[in-house]
Amino acid sequence: MARRSKSSAERPVISKEGWQKARQLLSYLKPYKWYFFVGLMFLGLGSSVFMVFPAAAGELIDIATNSSDSGWTLEDVGIGLLVILFVQALSSYFRVLLFAHVSEKGMAAIRTALYDKLITQPTAFFDKNRVGELTSRSTADVQQLQDAISITLAELIRQIIILVVGVSYLAYMAPQLLLVMISTFPVVILIALFFGRYIRKLSRDRQDKLAHTATIIEETLQAISVVKAFTNEWFERKRYAASVNQVVDISLRFARIRGLFIVFIITALFGAMFFVLWWGATLVQSGDMAAGELVTFITLTAIIGGAVASLGDFYTQILRAVGASERIMELLSSASEFDLKETINTTKITGNIQFNEVGFHYPSRPELSILNNINLTIESGQKVALVGASGGGKSTVVRLLLRYYDLISGSIMVDGKKLEDYQMQHLRRNIGIVPQEVILFGGSIRENIAYGNHTASEAAIIDAAHQSNSWEFIHSFPDGLDTIVGERGVQLSGGQRQRIAIARAILKNPSILLLDEATSALDAESERVVQDALNKLMQGRTSIIIAHRLATVRTVDCIYVLEDGKIIEQGRHEDLLTKQTGAYRQLAKLQF
Ligand SMILES: Nc1ncnc2c1ncn2[C@@H]1O[C@H](COP(=O)(O)OP(=O)(O)O)[C@@H](O)[C@H]1O
Ligand SMILES: [Mg+2]
Repeated sequence: MARRSKSSAERPVISKEGWQKARQLLSYLKPYKWYFFVGLMFLGLGSSVFMVFPAAAGELIDIATNSSDSGWTLEDVGIGLLVILFVQALSSYFRVLLFAHVSEKGMAAIRTALYDKLITQPTAFFDKNRVGELTSRSTADVQQLQDAISITLAELIRQIIILVVGVSYLAYMAPQLLLVMISTFPVVILIALFFGRYIRKLSRDRQDKLAHTATIIEETLQAISVVKAFTNEWFERKRYAASVNQVVDISLRFARIRGLFIVFIITALFGAMFFVLWWGATLVQSGDMAAGELVTFITLTAIIGGAVASLGDFYTQILRAVGASERIMELLSSASEFDLKETINTTKITGNIQFNEVGFHYPSRPELSILNNINLTIESGQKVALVGASGGGKSTVVRLLLRYYDLISGSIMVDGKKLEDYQMQHLRRNIGIVPQEVILFGGSIRENIAYGNHTASEAAIIDAAHQSNSWEFIHSFPDGLDTIVGERGVQLSGGQRQRIAIARAILKNPSILLLDEATSALDAESERVVQDALNKLMQGRTSIIIAHRLATVRTVDCIYVLEDGKIIEQGRHEDLLTKQTGAYRQLAKLQF
């Protein structure tokens, strides 16, 4: 986050890439361009018709004072005004409707594209980005963009039309007066550019800080039980308040700059207007201008003044939207792990696994080597175990097989084919995992089991529940399969969650099974039930078992002892036990 704020501070007003990125985003609106153009026509119509008002007002005065030479009556002008009102009302209605269509559909497309990107980011991306910040980016930033398109853009165009028509009319009516007005423009624009630079930076910083506060809420609510157990409510509250105060600080700075800007605009504008008024009055006094003309002039000047004043505000809003689109594009243009739309290969993987001299370090800590020259060979249907002290790299082996991260050196082969040569989703479809901490989704037990296979029938779900030894407890709940598990499954015990994860894996029916300390967090009784379910699940599948308690791995085909990222021993349980000074024997001694 700090990195992003810094880079935005270094950039000038709006960089070329900034505009380019905003333009790229426009491609999401392309399908709705005709709605936009028709809306634009209504906008043009409404605004132009609106510009007749000042002329009509002047004409009314001239007719009333008998100085009109148009030959119109008060009734004529009255009817004309009614027609204008009607056209104005109709065109406003359709404009709003059409622009809403464009912005809603367009934003829906951008939101979906953002979600596609988020959900297909590689694991390393989630190691370095915080969830709250990403959430903010996909909600607040998109909202800002939507406001810009649906409200700001329309208003901006309307004001520009008013400005152009009004100024042309003034030029025709009273060219000298117009010169006075126009002379203020370049100054206004220069100052607007100057302010814009700060406004954009502050706006971006403010969004960043807002995202940060969202992160704190998200993180503390997710780990609310930890917060409670450590009675850190006050600590978190202070952290949150500090973050909120930072938002206030930056927002106030933002307001100061905007306030100054508005003061400037108003002063310049009203100054010019008063001067024009005064000049006009002298013209009427000397008989060079009709009273009606002056009324037209005054109304027009006021309208134009309003238009110019609002331009500044719209300008800052557009700058903010460009800032938002830059952040959105940053995410949209990042590389995905795979294309969400490609069809997934459905052939079954047999499950022969081979690690050849695998070396690895995490992208976030390149200096810390995690795995060194790991060699493993697992035949289809075999069971192997990884044991060793915590932090040795066991879970990392499993993550690499799932291709959560790319290797640094060596290769992993599955069925004789390199891991990278598999379609990512094809590979993962064939691998099941039961971790130590199972995370369920907030819905029902049924939904959570069916997560392994969305097309599974009711009978298949119940069958999986039976096989995973979960039917008994599911059945004992009044709502059965429809029991809501609570957020992340908090309303179930650890052992129950574990068995639902097993049921899920049964439905997925993978060829390769990864059990990462699946029973380590359970009490002896739950462990027995879960282990029984796991044994059923492992039948006929290539299984890699990471275990804490050696009792669970006595019967596997091969045990690998991992220490500091290296395999220091391998063999069957009985053989390893015979090595007098072996690491496995030491581990076993501690446990049995
Ligand atoms: N996402 C990550 N980013 C950086 N380092 C990590 C990450 N995950 C694990 N590590 C580090 O990798 C090492 C091995 O971790 P892990 O494979 O989980 O060990 P084990 O499962 O054997 O206990 C540890 O030192 C851990 O700190
Ligand atoms: Mg682990």
